[in-house]
Amino acid sequence: MNITVKTGSLTNFDCEILLVGHFEDNQMPEGTARLLDEKCNGLITELIEQRDFEGKLYSSSVVYTRGLLRSRRIMITGLGKKKEFNLEKLRGVFSKACQKIRDLSITQLATSLDFGESEFSIRETAQAAVEGAMLGLYRFTPYKTLEEDEKGEISEFTIVESRPGLLEDVKDGAKTAEIISRAVYCARDLVSTPSNDMTPTILADRAGDVAKEGNLKFEVLNEAAMKELGMNALLGVARGSAEEAKLIILEYNGGSKNDKPVVLVGKGVTFDSGGISIKPSEKMDEMKSDMSGGAAVIGTIKAAAELKIPLNVVGIIPATENLPGGKAYKPGDVLKSMSGITIEIKNTDAEGRLILADALTFAGKYKPAAIIDLATLTGACVIALGDYLTGMLGTDSDLKEKIHSASDATGETVWELPLWHEYDELIKSDVADIKNTGGRAGGTITAALLLKRFAGDYPWVHLDIAGPALLLKDKPYIPKGASGVGVRLLVQFLMDRSQSSNANP
Ligand code: BES
Ligand code: MN
Ligand code: ZN
Repeated sequence: MNITVKTGSLTNFDCEILLVGHFEDNQMPEGTARLLDEKCNGLITELIEQRDFEGKLYSSSVVYTRGLLRSRRIMITGLGKKKEFNLEKLRGVFSKACQKIRDLSITQLATSLDFGESEFSIRETAQAAVEGAMLGLYRFTPYKTLEEDEKGEISEFTIVESRPGLLEDVKDGAKTAEIISRAVYCARDLVSTPSNDMTPTILADRAGDVAKEGNLKFEVLNEAAMKELGMNALLGVARGSAEEAKLIILEYNGGSKNDKPVVLVGKGVTFDSGGISIKPSEKMDEMKSDMSGGAAVIGTIKAAAELKIPLNVVGIIPATENLPGGKAYKPGDVLKSMSGITIEIKNTDAEGRLILADALTFAGKYKPAAIIDLATLTGACVIALGDYLTGMLGTDSDLKEKIHSASDATGETVWELPLWHEYDELIKSDVADIKNTGGRAGGTITAALLLKRFAGDYPWVHLDIAGPALLLKDKPYIPKGASGVGVRLLVQFLMDRSQSSNANP
């Protein structure tokens, strides 16, 4: 889809359909809807007066302009109640409207962001509108070969801005949204790809493609190199698989040479069968998404580079399969991690924390300003917070606060759970320093307490994305399937951070 911003008025713009918004509580169309209405002899007013269209959130009506305008159709879409309106709703509005337009087999649309007076800046309005449209129109089709599955796409999305002073801000917001949405697409594609086509080696290759495009530093450690470093926790998990494990490292240096980097660590289990402690077969297919944290890290760094965020950012993705095999690691085994801490394996399905343990130790090499890890780590987090919330646990309250505000801005909602130190007892082992599970109760907390031991003294936050990584139902602007969760949150976090570090160097 081409996103274009043009100066002019929608009233004389020539396009298959014009998309405008209307608030539920308004008796009369406002902003651009009013201008179109005037040109069309009250077509929209009539619709509202007859209550055929009430402006309810996500509702829409299509009317034909019958030669009164150059464009044949207008879609009027509901923005809901004005006092409840916000950018998260706007994302949903643009998503739903564009999905309907696509269903009508219409391939080009033009829209205006003038809905009357607004408390939101035009820049953030443009960003939310384009993000909503792009994120909502995402489909994953590479494996569809039958004609019946072939559906058209919207090829042209034009924002027409009549207020000359706002043009640059609209362009800027739209461009930012496009970069971020493409990064989310990148993460979703990686996650949606089935594990037979998304092995650790292939994931590393895809990260390499991103690195090449973005001019990033890129390195992949193979098993021999990891052995050299003593990464036996990661290698232990990899032993059951015939696919070689990889440690993927991406570096974007947008900051000054001496700026300490933000290190992002993403769980990259390309398939989690549970290993010897095998999972039930029902829903095991969903475990192709167990590299969602890694995918989010790749997407975030891609966007950071394209947005030229003035920060140094390192991405580390420990990538492996977790399979039962003749050489697989077993319950009762003890693994010596890169940090020297020994870990007794109680359950081979608690593999994520093992590969993250070594990746976090490795992250220390960069003397990071902050470490943020993302992982589909625990089913317990889904039980605690449900399918939509990301669990957040960490050692640094400032970092947590910043992530919280990025959460508010992006709608990628996080909720904090406590790193409750009393529960350290639960991961004590009789034979090793620690064990890899603390039982069912408080499972997200005990997993995070294990990670904490490997994060050193660096400001660190862990994000458990087991719930929102893969959606089983559509959300307003996230079609079911891989959500790409984490990308928008982290990009926002990095943008905010670069701005505040500019303000007080
Ligand atoms: N990848 C899973 C967690 C998961 C579950 C993600 C459901 C998304 C949806 C993780 O590796 C795992 O298996 N965790 C175990 C830990 C347990 C054995 C302590 C779990 O949550 O059951
Ligand atoms: Mn597992
Ligand atoms: Zn897992």
